Amino acid sequence: MATRALFQRYGRLQATTPKGPRPAARIPCTRPLVTVNSADAQTHFGYRQVDMQEKPQLVQDVFDSVARSYDVMNDAMSLGMHRLWKDHFVNRLAPWDGMRLVDVAGGTGDIAFRVLRAAPQAEALVVDVNQNMLQVGERRAHAAALSSGEPSSARARPRLRFMHGDAESLPLDAEQFDAYTISFGMRNVARPERALAEAVRVLRRGGRFLMMELSAMPEDRFPLLRQAYDTYSFRVIPQLGQWIANDRAAYEYLVQSIRRFPPPAQVGATMRDAGLQALTTEELCFGVVCIYSGWKV
Ligand SMILES: C[S@@+](CC[C@H](N)C(=O)[O-])C[C@H]1O[C@@H](n2cnc3c(N)ncnc32)[C@H](O)[C@@H]1O
Repeated sequence: MATRALFQRYGRLQATTPKGPRPAARIPCTRPLVTVNSADAQTHFGYRQVDMQEKPQLVQDVFDSVARSYDVMNDAMSLGMHRLWKDHFVNRLAPWDGMRLVDVAGGTGDIAFRVLRAAPQAEALVVDVNQNMLQVGERRAHAAALSSGEPSSARARPRLRFMHGDAESLPLDAEQFDAYTISFGMRNVARPERALAEAVRVLRRGGRFLMMELSAMPEDRFPLLRQAYDTYSFRVIPQLGQWIANDRAAYEYLVQSIRRFPPPAQVGATMRDAGLQALTTEELCFGVVCIYSGWKV
């Protein structure tokens, strides 16, 4: 498949080999993920400065608006690449039968579906703050007969569940998951530090934290490619958003929020401060996507 070849050829990919994952780059730690001015508690929503309390509702509005076309739009704007990134992300996780996973900001369930395909006896809980995104996910799960929509006699405990909840205060007991994933979710969270603290709280000792996020291409590398990526992001993606989701502004927010997401070193600092250890990062597609890994020791 042409896209797969492109991904493998050009991605800064440290692939999982049959002999086990090669070590990814160590994260040097510097500054925190989000700098909050505690005096007036402001943060950003795309390029706008907003009050901290305002951001969750603004994000909610974005995903309320795009939920029904979210999956189609992902395929259109990434030219199908998001599927390969997610496949690779789940490969890195290396799920096993019996594993208990919580996929936070799990939206329409893409990560959970892949995990259960790789390890059919794993248990996946998708948590998201947006009911419309969860509903799309549940419909997909029912169609694939994976979720709690199956007759109760079929399975005492469903392997896939969807739950409404905020990454910053998860409605979950401590130390009950083997793995916590968050894919393309963290940059939407108003206080990522709180989400990371919650990730550490719900993971058991020895549990894995794995995050995938889009970010701006590094400025000092690939200047021409960066220019092309920026043109595509700011001109083409909002237009696709208008045509497919009937919401240009939602996709303007998306591309702006990617630019506001800090570089890997800063993300690493915040992960370390939250108590995660053995931190590594892996860039895909010239740094357009980054996978962050850490462990609760
Ligand atoms: C870009 S989507 C990612 C969905 C899915 N993880 C994927 O990779 O396709 C971002 C998701 O984050 C959710 N989200 C935003 N803020 C959140 C929060 N504070 N807690 C939980 N979910 C949140 C949104 O509702 C949305 O479903």
